[in-house]
Amino acid sequence: METYGILWCDKSSGCENPDSGVGIYAADPDAYNVFADVLHPVIKDYHKVSELKHPSPDFGDINNLGFDNLDPSNEYIVSTRVRVGRSHDSYGFPPVLDKEQRLSMEQKSREALESLTGELAGKYHPLLGMDKTTQQQLTDDHFLFNDHDRFLKTCGGYDDWPYGRGIFFNNNKDFLVWVNEEDHLRLISMQKGGNLGEVYKRLVTAIKEMEKKLTFAHHPKFGYLTFCPSNLGTTLRASVHIKIPKLAAEPNFKEVCDKWNLQARGIHGEHTESVGGVYDISNKRRLGLSEIEAVQEMRRGVEEIIRLEKSLNNKGGWFSCKFPFFKK
Ligand code: ADP
Ligand code: ARG
Repeated sequence: METYGILWCDKSSGCENPDSGVGIYAADPDAYNVFADVLHPVIKDYHKVSELKHPSPDFGDINNLGFDNLDPSNEYIVSTRVRVGRSHDSYGFPPVLDKEQRLSMEQKSREALESLTGELAGKYHPLLGMDKTTQQQLTDDHFLFNDHDRFLKTCGGYDDWPYGRGIFFNNNKDFLVWVNEEDHLRLISMQKGGNLGEVYKRLVTAIKEMEKKLTFAHHPKFGYLTFCPSNLGTTLRASVHIKIPKLAAEPNFKEVCDKWNLQARGIHGEHTESVGGVYDISNKRRLGLSEIEAVQEMRRGVEEIIRLEKSLNNKGGWFSCKFPFFKK
């Protein structure tokens, strides 16, 4: 398919949602070159990089990661999830696709996914025709996406909904793929508890298998291309749902996250609130570092978050703790 580098701006998400953090989307892979003047400064600002460059993919040695369970006593981490986004190199992004293209891309993705074998083998479940109970259960279990994001809605992200959308999962429901949510594909590995090593290893295995079956859009400066500039590069978000009621109640919680390049979200996804002191904590940076570096950045930050929560539990309050970086 020919692509034109169209920038979605007449129904611009950022104009309709002035509280946007990024506020702009690329309507197809070529937009990152054609609209460099507007997109490149946004990319630099979001990813906090002075130069636009990204290393070649490096997933590390998955048989020798040097980390596994971040919470062996099972006190803090409820679940762990790592995801990447991937875009078919032959299709535009959501605003420029028509129903026929969404359906053909869904079919192409489905065939690749349903040919996976071993622990990754599973079945594709289209959203079209999925009964409400199944949909609700998959949502409650944090597996399924929805069409509630107003930022995506205003940039055409939900056009033709639910056509072309669906979810693939394996028998264990620890490897899942979102088809045509925000990105063409979101590959997800997740499980209960804090074993980041197992989750990451499964994801990397899946990425390598999928790369044998499909060709994904990749850019010399921006790594893997995604609809939203915030996901460029590794496209990797490694998160834990973690119980940190004490730390999160401290006025300096955001500062801790910033120091460790972490992002805190609520437990029902982006733009939601925490429930009962449980937060979604993940790496913020995705561009300008490798996959293994992004995961290590998240690991170090989560280990520190656990250490701080433990200290608060033991000592009974923020100001009785001594954290050198918070001295006033
Ligand atoms: P992403 O941008 O990575 O797709 P969202 O913030 O939109 O993430 O969340 C998508 C879904 O994944 C939500 O249902 C959220 O609750 C779930 N989720 C994210 N991280 C975890 C985790 N560590 N454990 C369980 N569910 C998670
Ligand atoms: N467009 C939204 C904003 O600018 C979301 C940005 C990042 N999130 C995402 N799902 N791409 O705030």
